[in-house]
Amino acid sequence: MTVSLVGAGPGDPDLLTMKAARLIAEADVVVHDALIDQRVLDLIPVTAERIDVGKRPGRSTPQEMISALLVELGRQGKRVVRLKGGDPFVFGRGGEEALALLDAGIAVEVVPGISSSIAAPAAAGVPVTHRGVSAAFTVVTGHRQAGEPNVDWRALARVNGTIVILMGVAHRGTIASELIAGGLGAATPVMAVRSATTDGEVVQRCRLDELGSAAIESPATIVVGAVAAFDLTSATAAAHAAHVG
Ligand SMILES: C[S@@+](CC[C@H](N)C(=O)[O-])C[C@H]1O[C@@H](n2cnc3c(N)ncnc32)[C@H](O)[C@@H]1O
Repeated sequence: MTVSLVGAGPGDPDLLTMKAARLIAEADVVVHDALIDQRVLDLIPVTAERIDVGKRPGRSTPQEMISALLVELGRQGKRVVRLKGGDPFVFGRGGEEALALLDAGIAVEVVPGISSSIAAPAAAGVPVTHRGVSAAFTVVTGHRQAGEPNVDWRALARVNGTIVILMGVAHRGTIASELIAGGLGAATPVMAVRSATTDGEVVQRCRLDELGSAAIESPATIVVGAVAAFDLTSATAAAHAAHVG
């Protein structure tokens, strides 16, 4: 009786781990999020039950109900795959689900996935670290719910590394202002990639003081820092990047 919390990666099914692909192919039931790419969902056997618990505007399944569902399915002895975008433990609430399952005496297996925090920058040719340019990257949420700890954006501005922001589209103006107040230059490069590695991928670049008015749509990963000026997707762009670096 084991429930597998499986990372589905950013979208492209070629970015699934081999273990994720195997567990999906062997599943009796797959409980999945809204952001899972259709090409990954197509790997679920037709004989398997699919349960979409994705949160969408105007419709969401409370987290407690998702955890209770996983416990119930686990108790039935089915091969349960809980499929989550990116990595289950990177802003995926995988920890909460693992705790609920363990509390109920059900074993949990975590299968890491390629997080959008690294896959999205890579899709746009942005290395999150680069020798001589950035020696650190911080992955941070731009969306905070009541009761959660505040993100100290001004302190982050002083880390002198790359800042990778998930779920930051709605508050991008405030985030940019806070980072500038914390000491980052107004001209600091910013790169945002929407729906990385999917058919809907869109890459945008701007300066930090333009971020608030940039037309960026969710789901997007926003990268702030000198590396955001890089574009290692082509030789021409890479030559420019080498100049920047
Ligand atoms: C709830 S978080 C889940 C993150 C996920 N666990 C991970 O490791 O990638 C959802 C956010 O991840 C980012 N995201 C997920 N998939 C993405 C993609 N394909 N391209 C760009 N950003 C993505 C967006 O910021 C989105 O709002």
